[in-house]
Amino acid sequence: MKVLVIGSGGREHAIVQKLKQSKQGLDIFVAPGNGGIASQATCVPIKDDDIEGLLKFAKENAIDYTIVGPEIALTEGVVNAFEAEGLQIFGPTKEAALIEGSKDFAKAFMKKHNIPTADYQTFTEVEAAKAYLEEKGAPIVVKADGLAAGKGVVVATTLEQAIEAVESMLVDNCFGDAGSRVVIEEFLAGKEFSLMAFVHGEKVYPMLPARDHKRAYDHDQGPNTGGMGAFSPVPDLDQAKVDFAVEHILKPTAKGMMEEGRSFTGILYGGLIETPAGPKVIEFNARLGDPETQVVLPLLENELMQVIVDVKNGDDPQLTWKKGYAIGTVVASKGYPGNYLKEVQLPDLPIESDCFIIHAGTKLSTSGSFHSTGGRVLLVGAVEKNPEDAREKVYQYVKAFDQTDDFFYRKDIGSTK
Ligand code: AMP
Ligand code: GLY
Repeated sequence: MKVLVIGSGGREHAIVQKLKQSKQGLDIFVAPGNGGIASQATCVPIKDDDIEGLLKFAKENAIDYTIVGPEIALTEGVVNAFEAEGLQIFGPTKEAALIEGSKDFAKAFMKKHNIPTADYQTFTEVEAAKAYLEEKGAPIVVKADGLAAGKGVVVATTLEQAIEAVESMLVDNCFGDAGSRVVIEEFLAGKEFSLMAFVHGEKVYPMLPARDHKRAYDHDQGPNTGGMGAFSPVPDLDQAKVDFAVEHILKPTAKGMMEEGRSFTGILYGGLIETPAGPKVIEFNARLGDPETQVVLPLLENELMQVIVDVKNGDDPQLTWKKGYAIGTVVASKGYPGNYLKEVQLPDLPIESDCFIIHAGTKLSTSGSFHSTGGRVLLVGAVEKNPEDAREKVYQYVKAFDQTDDFFYRKDIGSTK
């Protein structure tokens, strides 16, 4: 079976590593991939949002199944385009991916279907938005409606910050069209967790919960990043809360999307927060989370390709999970998430280890060494029976990066915040 994975980050490398465990012997292509992926699969230089290029490649190379990593391809209709040509692809259509592509759509949808989330209002006019901010006061959250590469959310602790965010989106157009509408929502306090599920129409098959660490430095200090590490499952989250989130959030969302004529097949990601009134939705994504995937997939006992085929066909994939903990810390380039060093050769890494290494921003040189290309370079992860052992393994391994100050990593991943 020939499989094409679309994307180039850690999430896609984790998908590839999981697919490689298949007994079927899959022939895996990745567009465009990265250095780590190139050592395990065939990378093809097609950008992840070049829908025509991807379609042409899939047809010319008789790809049997395509798996989509990033949101941009989904919201631009890669699934619609492949399905129109009779090709098998896993992910939601453009219409269903709107749950991630428009925060205004997602909020209105949740309100209509009684899915717990923060109160909000949407604005296109700056004066009306400012008047609302003044009425509500800080803390308050300002979000660009559309996709803004993870930078479109401002959690404002002062009214001035909130006004500045609204002005930069609505007046200065800092996110272009994506910020021509803003959602202003109530600030929720609580512990966050991510709950992803395989979904086919109304059918929802939840994965284990995970938590990512978004701030750059230890103890959740410093700027927001794409994610500096993650762990799964979440020891401080009891099963009742997970069950509540499946019954009152994920299932009604899948059902509601069907009722809206936007039937969802693919991965539904709930970014959730525990509040005194129960879990509420912070955001929905229409794809696997990054870096959550890197720690959730290693705990999945099933063969990923079979799960995808089953879910797509409307069959129960009968998910089973390892009884253990996965933890992963991201090694980032000095300076990230601001301007960061690039093209730095990675140090020699331990060969004898049962950690898993997932590349995000690397390339493979002709001499066989890896060089950094991105802010987040790679993730070092481990699965153990208890979280402390997993942490110890990971932190023993990442010491290899202490030889230079070209890289940094958080030292507190997996400590329950
Ligand atoms: P992003 O990944 O850029 O969408 O980051 C969103 C982050 O902003 C979330 O993980 C939360 O930590 C925070 N956030 C978003 N909405 C709210 C909210 N209503 N209340 C509190 N924090 C929020
Ligand atoms: N980890 C958050 C995301 O994938 O959007």
